[in-house]
Amino acid sequence: MRRSEPESRQFFRERYGRDRLAATREVERRVLGHEVGINGYTTVEQAEGLASELELTPDTLLLDLGAGRGWPGTFLSWSTRCPVVLADVPLEALRAARGIAESRGVAGRTRAVCADGAALPFRGRPFRAIVHADVFC
Ligand SMILES: C[S@@+](CC[C@H](N)C(=O)[O-])C[C@H]1O[C@@H](n2cnc3c(N)ncnc32)[C@H](O)[C@@H]1O
Repeated sequence: MRRSEPESRQFFRERYGRDRLAATREVERRVLGHEVGINGYTTVEQAEGLASELELTPDTLLLDLGAGRGWPGTFLSWSTRCPVVLADVPLEALRAARGIAESRGVAGRTRAVCADGAALPFRGRPFRAIVHADVFC
């Protein structure tokens, strides 16, 4: 079933507003090896592939568009030390993303921005790399 844009926004707001179950977090730890707040299908292996394809380094400012709770942006920042901007619409997602960034120790190089991909609020071309994981689904 295809959701309209307002239905989709509501869906994600409610989803991110719910606390993640301890069981969900445990599954992430066991299956992915990391607790990442995932809300899609991008695996750790694929995220590592992105890091290598995009040649992420501490000098690469990365935009994770539709980051949800920060996957894969916070992971990429942790693994490559790149600074990252996490952009999504629901504040509930961005709050959770900030918590995950703190727990991963990357909060200092992470910014969470409430932004719609259709009208990004960034001037110029500040990003050296952009990822979007399971956003157009
Ligand atoms: C399936 S989730 C994937 C979230 C995260 N990337 C992950 O893999 O866990 C899709 C995300 O895209 C976001 N999204 C959808 N349309 C968007 C838009 N126009 N601008 C920014 N984010 C959008 C949703 O709010 C949602 O968080």
